[in-house]
Amino acid sequence: MSPHTPDTPKIPYGGDYNPEQWPEDVWDEDHRLFTRAGIDTLTVGVFSWSLTQPAEDVHDFTVLDRVLDRAAAEGRRVCLATGTAALPPWLAGKYPEVGRTDFEGRRHRYGQRHNFCPSSPAYRRLSTAMAGRLAERYCHHPALLAWHINNEYGGACYCDLCAEAFRAWLRDRHGTLDAVNDAWWTTFWSHRYTDWDQIEPPSALTEHWRGPDHTAFQGITLDYQRFMTDALLGCFTAEKEAVRAHDPDTPVTTNLMGAYRPLDYHRWAPHLDFASWDNYPPLDAPPTRPALAHDLMRGLKDGAPFWLMEQTPSTTACRDVNPLRRPGELRLATFQAIAHGADAALYFQLRASRGACEKYHGAVIGHAGRDDTRTFLEVEAIGAELAALGAATLGARTPSRTALLFDWDSWWALEISDGPSRLVRYPDVVHSYYRAAREAGADVDVVPVTADLTPYDVVLAPVLHLVKGDLAERLEAVARRGGTVLATFLTARSDEHDRAFLTDVPGPLAPLFGIRVDEWDARPEDVVQRVSMGEFTTEARLVFEIVRLRGAEAVGTYGDDFYAGTPAVTRHAHGTGEAWYVATALDQPGVGHVVRRVLARHDLTGPCADQPGVETATRVTADGTSLLFLLNHTTNAAHLAMRQAATDLLTGKTYEQGESLPLDPLGVAVLRLQ
Ligand code: GLA
Ligand code: ZN
Repeated sequence: MSPHTPDTPKIPYGGDYNPEQWPEDVWDEDHRLFTRAGIDTLTVGVFSWSLTQPAEDVHDFTVLDRVLDRAAAEGRRVCLATGTAALPPWLAGKYPEVGRTDFEGRRHRYGQRHNFCPSSPAYRRLSTAMAGRLAERYCHHPALLAWHINNEYGGACYCDLCAEAFRAWLRDRHGTLDAVNDAWWTTFWSHRYTDWDQIEPPSALTEHWRGPDHTAFQGITLDYQRFMTDALLGCFTAEKEAVRAHDPDTPVTTNLMGAYRPLDYHRWAPHLDFASWDNYPPLDAPPTRPALAHDLMRGLKDGAPFWLMEQTPSTTACRDVNPLRRPGELRLATFQAIAHGADAALYFQLRASRGACEKYHGAVIGHAGRDDTRTFLEVEAIGAELAALGAATLGARTPSRTALLFDWDSWWALEISDGPSRLVRYPDVVHSYYRAAREAGADVDVVPVTADLTPYDVVLAPVLHLVKGDLAERLEAVARRGGTVLATFLTARSDEHDRAFLTDVPGPLAPLFGIRVDEWDARPEDVVQRVSMGEFTTEARLVFEIVRLRGAEAVGTYGDDFYAGTPAVTRHAHGTGEAWYVATALDQPGVGHVVRRVLARHDLTGPCADQPGVETATRVTADGTSLLFLLNHTTNAAHLAMRQAATDLLTGKTYEQGESLPLDPLGVAVLRLQ
């Protein structure tokens, strides 16, 4: 069996640790404090390249040796990074090609991190050599638990090497220039290419104006986003292969960033042994924002547990204003990750760096090295709870019957489109449907459009702008066998090359939804339409599609303008199931109303659906034990009437069926159901 999420006896707890910044007497103190806090897992070597290779022909692993040996001696495990995300100065000086060329065409000089050109042969050679050397040296080290390739891959490069690589990628994907011209619709504005070398990366110097979202040719920009995803993925897989040459077994990952627009993580997923990601939600975001990202990450490996690779124990540093986590919020965020499928809880960072741009980023151990700060004590208390939890949650899967389709191609296509409205943002609409389902208590799998849809009763497809492959047939099959499919405005508008379908809107999905859309009205944010759904009235904004019924019935109608009284929300019986279409951006109560009606049809609302701010999530272990997580995101006490007897694994308390379970403000319970 191929490597998977690392096998551990409990949830690995710890985080990014940079002892190379400190003398060894500080390490003694670190380990004393790690023991106190229950920290057993250290992510090391993430930014150590200039130390391990101070010159091209000089390698020095003495510090890293000591870091790993010390970890092993202390009984801790290491998530070992290849350290290739921040370049040593000599490398950039000797091979200027490793610097990126930005969107404006400026070749960057040495500085910062996460900014190597993915097409640079020098970078590829040196990064894979380093990964290989590390694997050769440490593959049998008793501390080694997992490989952490690079760090937060991202961004894009527009240099000549990338232009060459893009052309090669296009040949591979399209075969001929005729196919490229057809896919990109190049006869528009006289762009018919007659030589591959005429093709330029789409940037501020070529097809774009007003930034990355404004392109003359969506097809080119879309292909460049796919290409850049693959180019950076190529860096990852090259390092992974170098590791594998020495170490066939240890699981390999890289830390992703949740719903990160530049990289289509679904293209990465098959190459990761397990998914891991860094969770830094804006602290004023509703809790369903990080939850959506957790579920998106869990969906990468078909529902297998992922690692929470980073979160701050207290505050970030990179934002203009960096609020503090309130007492109890760290614990809540940690258990929220576990509730959604995390099998590790790691921080950035264990000890605060003394200088440079992250010196004010929160850390388990601050500059004063104290073990009695609020942050340290909260970290310590969570460590004790995770120790008590042991293996109880490890490997457990989420038994969702609701799927939400998440599609980077649709995200890109929607947001680089001229018309109908630049105010529609893909993650916002997706989040509003996800939030509605989660607040109603449904567990949700966030899956790619290629996922097997047969396990689901409900499939939500918000703003699925671009429809490719056999998705239309598979959605029809969901409804035919009795399920419910829901789509929204701006769904199924274009094909895989972002060319409009030459049929009625919504393209290949029109028969399933039993509607036809000929016109759509886009208005500024302050223009509000009333939408009535029987007794329930709500508001809608941004885009108002004008729907003609072709078999569907109207569930909601517009209240204003020349299309007052026409359908805004429709339902179409298809087979023994239903297909719902929401033709406008309903406000959150409106989305909630529609989604609850859909979920109710399948009895999928949860036990806390009427308690705003109380989140539930279910995981089922390999032996069939059901774990119900209760997360009180409010600062008020809450109560849950138990539907069945259960034991809270955090307190050991047992509850009978019908008994009321109290939850503190920001409180958490992990219930083993009987
Ligand atoms: C990212 C990086 C870390 C660190 C943190 C700070 O997630 O991976 O190296 O910079 O952000 O928030
Ligand atoms: Zn480049």
